[in-house]
Amino acid sequence: MPKQKDLIELSYLSVAVSDMSFLGLMRLLEAARAFNQKHGITGILFYDNQEFGQVIEGERTSVMKVWKRIQDDKRHHRIELLEIRDITEHTYPDWLLRFYGGESLTKDYPALAQMVGGMDKFSLALLNKMRETER
Ligand SMILES: Cc1cc2nc3c(=O)[nH]c(=O)nc-3n(C[C@H](O)[C@H](O)[C@H](O)COP(=O)(O)O)c2cc1C
Repeated sequence: MPKQKDLIELSYLSVAVSDMSFLGLMRLLEAARAFNQKHGITGILFYDNQEFGQVIEGERTSVMKVWKRIQDDKRHHRIELLEIRDITEHTYPDWLLRFYGGESLTKDYPALAQMVGGMDKFSLALLNKMRETER
């Protein structure tokens, strides 16, 4: 029998040190995406009003590696872990970036549409998690 995968989901909130531009978000997405793809990490990063919310999912050891990279990144602070939980399968199809205004960006740059977008069903679970948390 194939070994059961040890999958976990990790979510956190943080505050950007300075307001992120589209270009800044694209740079972050690019660096994160390369690492995540290589390590089978999927999830969603949401940005609004200088606040990040993120869910990452994958093999436990890979997720903990990404978590370390995230905590080491000086572009944000006040990082608050929401939850680490065991999961049986991936919820997110890919590595997604969502922010208000994302739709208009993908109208101009259709090639981005797979990764970048406005609010969709994938954003809702994360937004609910963010709302539940008292800051
Ligand atoms: C809000 C936020 C989210 C991040 N998400 C990820 C991520 O999902 N995967 C990842 O590998 N790194 C993530 N990072 C970390 C950076 O992308 C990465 O460590 C940094 O760009 C250094 O990359 P380098 O190894 O190319 O120097 C995140 C950083 C921030 C501020």
